[in-house]
Amino acid sequence: MILLQKLVIEIINFFDQNVKNASERDVVDRLKTVPLRHENFVSLKVKKIPKERALEKALSTISGSSLKNIRGCIYKAYSEMHWNIDSGLFYEKDSGIGQQYLNGNMHAEFIGPENGAFKSDELRLGLFLLEPNIFYPDHKHEAPELYLNLTNGTEWRFEGMRWQEKDSGSIIYNEPFCVHAMKTNRLPFLSVWCWPNNSTKKCIVVPQRP
Ligand SMILES: [Fe+2]
Repeated sequence: MILLQKLVIEIINFFDQNVKNASERDVVDRLKTVPLRHENFVSLKVKKIPKERALEKALSTISGSSLKNIRGCIYKAYSEMHWNIDSGLFYEKDSGIGQQYLNGNMHAEFIGPENGAFKSDELRLGLFLLEPNIFYPDHKHEAPELYLNLTNGTEWRFEGMRWQEKDSGSIIYNEPFCVHAMKTNRLPFLSVWCWPNNSTKKCIVVPQRP
């Protein structure tokens, strides 16, 4: 528990120092209300990490001093995390999200209603990984969303506009139902992700060309 608790505290510290607007601040304030205590912790059974090589590669590329503490905590804690592949869990059946995404993603929840180590009825906080050369199609969801890009090299687009590369250490806030897509290139993508509310609602694919 201690390792995950430390990691969540480092994530909160980073957001506290770096979020810029009221919407982002609101997510962080909600995050701070989750009790990081024994009574609220479930020790999840550790299983094989599905995409361990990509995870180790991603971690090895994080170099910024501002992410040093988060990176260090992830290194210590990742083998104790409950990693899952999203095989459609967050999407309706036949959503059109595509095999590239389904085969190339992995996530672990530190906080969450079902799979989180620390329990919250609504809020989810975790790590999200994409393998190299994956197009994660344009999609939207009711939950507002805060991302912290830990790695370099991933491109994002919002509302179908041009692709833009986001640097390691950058924070992205998606308003509810804002359409967004990502694509990785030669490096895997590793990020912290948070849905503060409406986190059990499914994502909707918005088909567009890569
Ligand atoms: Fe999203």
